[in-house]
Amino acid sequence: MKTENSISLTKCSSLKGEFNPPPDKSISHRSIIFASISEGRSVIENFLDAEDPISTLNAFKSMGVEINKSGNTIDVKGKGLLGLREPENIIDCGNSGTTMRLLCGLLSACPFFSILTGDESLVHRPVLRVTSPLREMGAAITARDNGRFPPVALKGGDLKAISYKMPVASAQVKSSIILGGLFADGVTVIEEPVKSRDHTERMLPSFGANIEVKGLSVTVTKGSRLYGSKVLIPGDFSSAAFFIAAAMMVKGSEVIIKDVGLNPTRTGFLNVVKKMNGNVEVVNSRSVSGEIIGDIICKFTPELQSVTLGKDDIPAMIDEFPVLCILASQAEGVTEIRGAEELRIKESDRISAMARGLTQMGAHVDEYDDGMAVKGPVKLTGAVTESRKDHRVAMAFSVASMIADGPTTIVDSSCIGISFPGFFDILKRLSKP
Ligand code: S3P
Repeated sequence: MKTENSISLTKCSSLKGEFNPPPDKSISHRSIIFASISEGRSVIENFLDAEDPISTLNAFKSMGVEINKSGNTIDVKGKGLLGLREPENIIDCGNSGTTMRLLCGLLSACPFFSILTGDESLVHRPVLRVTSPLREMGAAITARDNGRFPPVALKGGDLKAISYKMPVASAQVKSSIILGGLFADGVTVIEEPVKSRDHTERMLPSFGANIEVKGLSVTVTKGSRLYGSKVLIPGDFSSAAFFIAAAMMVKGSEVIIKDVGLNPTRTGFLNVVKKMNGNVEVVNSRSVSGEIIGDIICKFTPELQSVTLGKDDIPAMIDEFPVLCILASQAEGVTEIRGAEELRIKESDRISAMARGLTQMGAHVDEYDDGMAVKGPVKLTGAVTESRKDHRVAMAFSVASMIADGPTTIVDSSCIGISFPGFFDILKRLSKP
């Protein structure tokens, strides 16, 4: 049953079939940004037509970029590095942290005034992590609460290169500084504590940027002009993860997920699932537009084992935490996840959201400041769960509903449209009664 903004789901007896997950959200954002500041035409294929990337697309339209969308193909007539126009109004980044933080880097260097804001979740997510290094580069950037939260106001101007040791592993922060670095006099060097997703470093050179990666350090050299390119976006591993977990937990399941991005900075969850004894296999892997893609075969796994995860494991599976918590409730032993405090400042406080909902469903959970412990296996029972308007929390509890006794309600489920608009259609198609 579906009301306007909540859904009630019940157990299914197995999941069978194959599907293509939606296009990658992180790569979709980046493709629009890089194409817009390149000279000439770019064609983006398999763009994610969902709320978050559309926020990025609208932002660039408001800065004078001609962008035409036909289905999932996007045609961008880029303006070059200094061709963006001052937006006439505030840029609304919606729910998208990636739009907010990457645009901070770019707009720090664009010679006009701009203001970035977002929805009630985004205006409570920190931006000091980008405003602080960008100010070091000379940016005139201010934000609410002494630079800590959006709205952010910028007056772009000349930037100077810095060497920056990032205190937290974050691809959004890294990418924001890289974008500033494209304009900054000198050589910008960024060092990460643990490697975060590297889509920016992979894609920007194909538009002509001068970027070098050595281990945990990224070097950006000013000077290059960017030129339009062609981008083919792979399926989103983070969206696929919900079905990987579901197939392993629902008896008799066998699901093939096609053309999924398998960039190693994103697939930590796959490695964890293998450690848990999960029945998953990658086939047909190949390279497309600088990214690895492949198909994932996942099957019901009767004897899931618990796993212990620490700080270094988190960045490569940061968005898979909600569904991993559900999986942990079905694994033998105590799954302990630590060093994951970043999860408290995502679209919602994901540690608290998952600990509460899982407890309501009958799981044994200990919540920590920086993670949680889940003791399994346990029989879940349906409950009324709160998504907290967080798409990944809503999908995680939808997956839990598939193995729970009785109906599970997910309140505020429409947020799933932020990253995976067809989620319930695919679920319905694969579910065998
Ligand atoms: C993203 C980076 C990650 C991730 C987010 C998308 C990106 O955030 O959680 O969903 O596209 O760069 P952090 O950079 O804050 O870890």
